[in-house]
Amino acid sequence: MQHTQWYKDAVFYQIWPRSFCDGNGDGIGDLWGVLTKLDYIASLGVTGIWFSPLYPSPQADFGYDIANYYDINPEYGDLDLFRQVLDGAHKRGLRVIMDLVVNHTSDECDWFKQSRSSRDNAFADWYIWRDGKTPGAPEDGGTPPNNWDSLFEGGAWEYEPARNQWYLHIFAKKQPDLNMDNPQVRSEVERIMRFWLDIGVDGFREDVITFISKDPALPDDSPLIPAARGMKFYNHGPHVHEYLQQFRHNVLDHYDCMTVGEAPVISPEQALEYCAEGPNQELNMVFTFEHMGADCMFTDWVPRPFDLRAYKQAVGAWQTGLAAHAWNSLYLENHDHPRIISRYGSEQYRVESGKSLACSYLFLRGTPFVYQGQEIGMTNTHLESVEESADVSTFNQVRRLRELGVPESVCLDLTNRATRDHARTPMQWDAGPSAGFVGGDGGGIPWYPVNPNHVDINVAAADRDPDSLLAFYRKAIELRRKLPVVREGSYREFKRASNALYAYAREGAGQRLLVVCSFTEEIAYFSAPAGFDLAAGELCLCGYPDAPLEDNAFFLRPYECRVYLWNDES
Ligand code: GLC
Ligand code: CA
Repeated sequence: MQHTQWYKDAVFYQIWPRSFCDGNGDGIGDLWGVLTKLDYIASLGVTGIWFSPLYPSPQADFGYDIANYYDINPEYGDLDLFRQVLDGAHKRGLRVIMDLVVNHTSDECDWFKQSRSSRDNAFADWYIWRDGKTPGAPEDGGTPPNNWDSLFEGGAWEYEPARNQWYLHIFAKKQPDLNMDNPQVRSEVERIMRFWLDIGVDGFREDVITFISKDPALPDDSPLIPAARGMKFYNHGPHVHEYLQQFRHNVLDHYDCMTVGEAPVISPEQALEYCAEGPNQELNMVFTFEHMGADCMFTDWVPRPFDLRAYKQAVGAWQTGLAAHAWNSLYLENHDHPRIISRYGSEQYRVESGKSLACSYLFLRGTPFVYQGQEIGMTNTHLESVEESADVSTFNQVRRLRELGVPESVCLDLTNRATRDHARTPMQWDAGPSAGFVGGDGGGIPWYPVNPNHVDINVAAADRDPDSLLAFYRKAIELRRKLPVVREGSYREFKRASNALYAYAREGAGQRLLVVCSFTEEIAYFSAPAGFDLAAGELCLCGYPDAPLEDNAFFLRPYECRVYLWNDES
């Protein structure tokens, strides 16, 4: 099968199904809702959809705890409905990728139910079981096999009386880690991939895929490491490349599909081991975290102000680090991080900073992902108490803070800064009572409260306004797709030391593109670098209605952005 690298021209829209659109009126987003929004998604100019998990799940981590990999969560619909959505997407030129969560399953998955029932059953070795360091149940003084932390819920081990053993869970207790060293487990992963590819999906976003191979000795980590103890023994583990190559050669090679792997704590050099193009390429790209102000997934909790220089440095390192050999992913939001305008932009200059943020990443080299609501500039919500959170990782962070004696008011401030709930409030379709999220006649109440700002910030209002962020996203995505330089060009940065401006050029394919984005409400000054004659360039985008020039320079108003294009005659 010839791989066409179609993903290099793709722009994806991420749907977190529970909060996108409720079609049957029970207050929970679903595929009936998605079906009614396919035209809207296509209207953005995107060319693909990534669905966060749609599978049956007890929802301990909202679908990232899968109970059955071969079906659709009945709250969301069924396989027939999924086929309709897939078909409707394909008819509109939208590819569809699924979330593949194979580091762990739900504890309610049949495989785990059997695995935990005894030491000898067909699934006994499908998970990571070990004897305690000191035998017996914890209440009888038994202790876990090592000192690793889970990322979501205390220690990484949970005791199972039926086996008098412990199982490993890097995430929540209800997310036991699969034993990928077992060849049967790897064949099952292949079977899952084939099942969905044969239905017609176009690829996978692979959840925490760099975690799937653990150091078999499962050694204790240094007790001095304050959090995520153990990570160095399971991130980029000893067999991860072997296993991913197996999946590639046995399955992915036989379909013209794409993969993007979530990769916490990874350098560009390490990313090349996964993504360098060639016969042993394992993934088409990875999602990294450095530009999110975090080297890992859950460090939004560390209170630090936004640092534009650090952001630019991270982006630049990845742009240049992969340029010759591998492809980048590009994103500013997903279901795991607070809203980007609230983090890196300005709620006061919401539309302006939203436009600047859009330009700061949509013209980079790589495949962009836009998260639901990002395109209308949804912002963080406000929790009155930490109990309003619905997020298992927030519960864990707050528990740890409380153990450290952090006052309740600080716990609440940090929750409001960092919780994943911000990305998970219902999509704001209109100014109505449920933000237009609840459809049908079920009269359901949204499963999570809508952000009160939906009366102003919603799709219907943005659609009526030619200067809205939504209109800007449509223009920017269209522009990106028609300019070969965005796919082919090199990356060059200007004003690196500036804490106010992000300016970069893309050069190649007979074109030059200059992108200048302000990240401040102060007036900023940009003078064009040598070789860029602004008056001779085409102004393709500007965050304000006009774009005055002063010689070969301009003043940027609060959070202004501009994109200029030159077609080199040759
Ligand atoms: C990934 C997902 C996140 C989930 C975690 C465990 O980081 O993006 O939502 O909680 O993996 O599956
Ligand atoms: Ca529903």
